[in-house]
Amino acid sequence: MPATVIVGTQWGDEGKGKITDLLAAEAHIVARYNGGDNAGHTVTVGEDIFALHLVPSGILYPHTTCLIGNGVVVNPRTLSREIEELAKRGVDVSPERLKLSARAHLIMPYDIALDGAAEKSLGEGKIGTTKRGIGPTYGDKAARVGLRSWDMLDERAFVEKVRAAVEAKNAVLERIYDQPPLNPYEVAEEYADFAARLAPYVTDTSLVLHEALRAGKRVLCEGAQGTLLDLDHGTYPFVTSSSPIAGGALTGLGFGPRHIERIVGVVKAFQTRVGAGPMPTELLDEVGDRLRGTGEQPWDEYGTTTGRPRRCGWLDGVALRYAAQINGLTEIAITKLDILTGLETIKICVAYDYRGERLESFPASAEVLAECRPIYEEWPGWSEDIRGARALSDLPQAALDYVRRVEELADASAAFVSVGPGRQETIRRQEARSKRQMEVQLWPE
Ligand code: GDP
Ligand code: IMO
Ligand code: MG
Repeated sequence: MPATVIVGTQWGDEGKGKITDLLAAEAHIVARYNGGDNAGHTVTVGEDIFALHLVPSGILYPHTTCLIGNGVVVNPRTLSREIEELAKRGVDVSPERLKLSARAHLIMPYDIALDGAAEKSLGEGKIGTTKRGIGPTYGDKAARVGLRSWDMLDERAFVEKVRAAVEAKNAVLERIYDQPPLNPYEVAEEYADFAARLAPYVTDTSLVLHEALRAGKRVLCEGAQGTLLDLDHGTYPFVTSSSPIAGGALTGLGFGPRHIERIVGVVKAFQTRVGAGPMPTELLDEVGDRLRGTGEQPWDEYGTTTGRPRRCGWLDGVALRYAAQINGLTEIAITKLDILTGLETIKICVAYDYRGERLESFPASAEVLAECRPIYEEWPGWSEDIRGARALSDLPQAALDYVRRVEELADASAAFVSVGPGRQETIRRQEARSKRQMEVQLWPE
C-alpha cells in the first residue's frame, strides 16, 4: 500500500502539523523522519492546541501508530516530557502506539552546550539555530561517535558510554570554547533515568513500517523543517543538519522509493524564516508586520519552539519551483490563505534580479541569494472573510486566482487549501489526488 510524504516547501513552519493531522485521519502509521525538537508542529483540535516537537502529529487520532524514525535526533528529556504532557491531556502515548527507532541518535547535554558555544563563537555570522543541539548531534552521527536509542537498552553499559562521552566532550567545551565542563556522573545518572522511561518505546521502526506496508496499511511520513533548510539542498550554511526533503523520508525511516505514491508539499501563502540567512522577499515594513501579527493569535508568526518572531515576506515562487523540483511534488497544500485577507495587493516573486541578470532558478549559493532582488508579479487582494470557505467555489475570485497561480508555480494541484488553523477550516479537493489513490479504501476499514 502506498506511502504519503508531507514535506515543507519553504523555511519551515508551513503548517505541516495541521496537514499531517488531516491526512492522519486516513492513515494507519504516521512517522517522523528527520530533525528533532527544533521542530514545532501545531495541531488545533476544537479549542485544544497541541504543539508537538518529537511525537508525530498523527498521535491525536486513537487509531494511528506513530513512529519516530532513525533519521530523527532525540532529546530524551524532551521526549519524556512530551509523552508525559500528552498523557496528562488524555492522549494515549503508550509504547503500543508510539515507537522510537533503535537507530535514532540521542541529543546529549554537551550537544546543546556545543550548539550554543558554536553560535556564540560565530558572532555576527551565526546561523540562529534553535540551540537544541541538532547540529552537534548529527555531526557526531556522521563522525560515528554518537549514542543511539538502542544504547539505552543496556542500562549499565549505557551509563558507562554516557560518562565517557561527556568526558571526551568536556575537553572540547573547555579547551576550544572556554565553557564550563559538565559533570559526567550527574549526566550519566540523569540519562539512566531517561533510558528506563524510554526503553519500552525503543524498537526497529523500519521493520514495523515494512510489516505495515506488507499488510496493506497506509503510511504517512511527516517531515520537519523545510526544503530550504535541507542540509544538501537548502541555503547552506543557513540550514539545519538533516534532510527535510521527500528523499529524507526514505533514509530517515528505512524503506524503499517504490512505496511512495503521494508527495504533498506544504506551501504557506506567504514566506517566513526564523534565524539568519538570505530571504529575498523579506519585508521589513508594515506589510511584514501585518503578516507576522502581533502575537495575540496562536497562529501569529512567532516560533512554536523558541518564541522568536519569524521574518515575513511575500511568497517566493522561485523557491517554490525549486522545492517542487527537489521533492517531486505530486500535490500541494496551501496554508494560511486567510492571513492575506484584507491586503489590497498581494505580490509573488517570480524571478530574481542578480546583478542586473534575471534568474529564474534558485541559486546554489547563499551568497548569491543574498544579492538577489525579487521581481514581483502583483495580484489584487480580497476583503471577504474566507475562514468559512469549504470549497474553492466559496472563495472570492481574487483568492481563487491566487491559488491557481501558486498551483502553477508548484506545477501541482492543491489537494488542500487551509483557511484557518482548525481541522474544519479546510478546503479539501479530492480530485487533486491520483486515480489509484482514490481506489484505495479509506480509513476506517
Ligand atoms: P509546522 O512547523 O509546519 O507544523 O507549522 P507551525 O505549527 O510551526 O506553524 C503554523 C501555524 O499556523 C500554527 O500555529 C498553525 O496552527 C497555524 N495554521 C496552520 N494552517 C493555518 C491556516 O490556514 N490559517 C491560520 N490562520 N493558521 C494556520
Ligand atoms: P518546523 O518543523 C522553522 C531553523 C532555525 C535555524 C536553522 C538551524 O517547525 O518547521 P537548528 O536548530 O535546526 O540547527 O537551526 O533552522 N529551524 C526551523 N525553522 N521551523 C523549524 O521546524 C525549524 N527547525 C530549525 O531557526 O535557522
Ligand atoms: Mg513549526
